[in-house]
Amino acid sequence: MIIGIPKESAAGERRVAGTPKTVSQLIKLGYTVTVESGAGLAASFPDSEYIEAGAQIVDGATAWDADIVTKINAPDESEMVRMHKGALLVSLIEAPRSSERLDALAKQGLTVLAMDSVPRISRAQSLDVISSMANIGGYRAVIEAANVFGSFFTGQVTAAGKVPPAKVFVSGTGVAGLAAIGTARSLGAVVKATDIRAETAEQVESMGAEFVAVEAAAQQSSDGYAKEATEDYAAAAARMYTEQSKDMDIIITTAQIPGHPAPRLLSADMVAAMRPGSVIVDMAASSGGNVEGSAPDQIVITENGVKIIGYTDLPNRMPTQASSMFATNILNLMKLITPAKDGMAMIDNEDVVQRGMLVADGGEVTWPPPEVKVSAAPVAAAGAGAIDASTEALATEKRQLPKSVVYVGAALLAALFLVLFAFSPESLTGHFMVLMLSIVIGFYVIGKVSHSLHTPLMSVTNAISGIIIVGCLGGFQLVDRSLPMTDPVNLVILILSVIGILLASINIFGGFTVTQRMLNMFSKGQK
Ligand code: NAI
Repeated sequence: MIIGIPKESAAGERRVAGTPKTVSQLIKLGYTVTVESGAGLAASFPDSEYIEAGAQIVDGATAWDADIVTKINAPDESEMVRMHKGALLVSLIEAPRSSERLDALAKQGLTVLAMDSVPRISRAQSLDVISSMANIGGYRAVIEAANVFGSFFTGQVTAAGKVPPAKVFVSGTGVAGLAAIGTARSLGAVVKATDIRAETAEQVESMGAEFVAVEAAAQQSSDGYAKEATEDYAAAAARMYTEQSKDMDIIITTAQIPGHPAPRLLSADMVAAMRPGSVIVDMAASSGGNVEGSAPDQIVITENGVKIIGYTDLPNRMPTQASSMFATNILNLMKLITPAKDGMAMIDNEDVVQRGMLVADGGEVTWPPPEVKVSAAPVAAAGAGAIDASTEALATEKRQLPKSVVYVGAALLAALFLVLFAFSPESLTGHFMVLMLSIVIGFYVIGKVSHSLHTPLMSVTNAISGIIIVGCLGGFQLVDRSLPMTDPVNLVILILSVIGILLASINIFGGFTVTQRMLNMFSKGQK
């Protein structure tokens, strides 16, 4: 099949849905790739690089006539008609807000996979452009703020005086918020953050920011998404924002509740109480705004000199990075729907990820898809991940053994111990008791230790093998000094003692060295 990558037509759009790197990987999947001449230019990918990667540079009509068209933005009506019946379109669609577009795509006989309808489950993270773009958006929000902020982010002590670090507050700690925290921290700012979902506090703190809790019952989400705030929460949050905002240099708001207008977090009065020169970035400006007075795609300067940035195209302001991530998400989708790597796309309706993205199928609108259960853990990773990114930290679907298996396993284990207990010599029963108690105590003690402390804990427990060194030193006392050291018995004792000391030392010192290296990774100024 042929994959076409046309040039984006939306005003100001600089991203492209395929990069030379992803094109070469699509070709390895068995596809022929056509790229409209100049499609990647605004993202710094000239035609020559696509040719080197194996693509054919074609005119617009040819790129649109492909079997599969991959794009950033949803096509307008004049573009849809350039695709042939039965073709597959992969792009952003905004399905919840554009039933007319869905009808038009279906009428055209197209099959459509919406890149913005990827279910937020851990298995689908590699396709999740919303998270990729939010990650870039959170990063860029801090850069835009720094660009108009009149002072350093990092604190400095200079001959010309002492500069305190900038104080940054991040509201909403989803993907964009965590990326903003990571970026502001890496620029040296002191960062505070809040979120309506209590479970994000740990992620905020793990990124070196302070979590500011609202004094009202926060939500403990079961699906990783926030619900609308209660009146109690909103009132307590308003008190918190009034308190915090007047002390902040930069505020970045990213709060959103899927399917609702952006929650209003900062009122005009709160903005008016901020210091002149302070900066607010309202990332939700396109969906109603978290901040009173923000305007989409503008910088509003209030009477008291606070700048409110309402850019809605933050990822587009980093077109190379945004194109790379978007194109990689598309490549991962193509890998998923090309299991045989034969250049033939096959959509599996039974797969929740593919079904979730399928908004039109050969002339029929197939949106909304059946509901998908998402994991409770939020997608931190993206933002942070990028950062340490990573954030590592994306949601994990926990695989748990069924309860019945656990109960049967425990019963078998107990039976085994009973048998051993009943038939072992009397002298051993005491040891069994000690062993069983150690297992139970060890399980509860180690289970309560934070994962980040497991390595230091291991090295401390490793140090218990120091007793082996004492034993081996005792071994030297067994050497019969009336005989020469070359005597076979003496030799065996010596060799075993030396080996014992060597291995135990490696265990102890190696453990502490690994721990030290780990701790260094978390110390400032060390790699
Ligand atoms: P997300 O859903 O991962 O995170 C939103 C966070 O807001 C969640 O953690 C949620 O719990 C929190 N939240 C909801 N209501 C809240 C409240 N009342 N108080 C405090 N926290 C609250 O969303 P993501 O992907 O991080 O995107 C954030 C926003 O940034 C969205 O509005 C998105 O449309 C926007 N965005 C804007 C871009 C731009 O160019 N301006 C680029 C990318 C994303």
